[in-house]
Amino acid sequence: MKRIFLIATFSILLYSSCTFEKSEAISSDCLSPVSYSADVDTIISLRCGGCHGVGSLDGNLTDYAVLKTKVESGIFKSKVFITKEMPQGGPALPENELGKLKCWMEQGALNN
Ligand code: HEC
Repeated sequence: MKRIFLIATFSILLYSSCTFEKSEAISSDCLSPVSYSADVDTIISLRCGGCHGVGSLDGNLTDYAVLKTKVESGIFKSKVFITKEMPQGGPALPENELGKLKCWMEQGALNN
């Protein structure tokens, strides 16, 4: 009886660690460096630039310095990843673009 209990506990632990790995695997692994100029700026200009371009009252996110302050304050992460309010009114960002933005933030949101 004790052995069955141990096996059951072990199986549950094993199973939950596997499902955890699976959900982690959805986002990119952030091993390769993400470039601000080649990746992030392109995504932001395309998906957000219509509302967040030069002169935008809600912040010109195509300007690195502005974007960086939004990343540092946490509002960028909140709007895009937590509440998913942005892009406002538009379709959600594709998984690969979300992955790039996430990894760029994790890598220090560099102007690279
Ligand atoms: C259709 C227009 C529109 C699009 C497209 C859009 N936004 Fe916004 N965004 C707004 C408006 C309006 C606000 C201000 C209201 C609010 O905070 O919800 C805002 C606010 C924000 C804020 C908070 C700014 C602050 O300092 O309070 C962030 C961050 C943001 N947007 C990020 C993004 C990102 C990233 C994208 C692209 C993935 C995006 N938005 C696309 C209209 C838009």
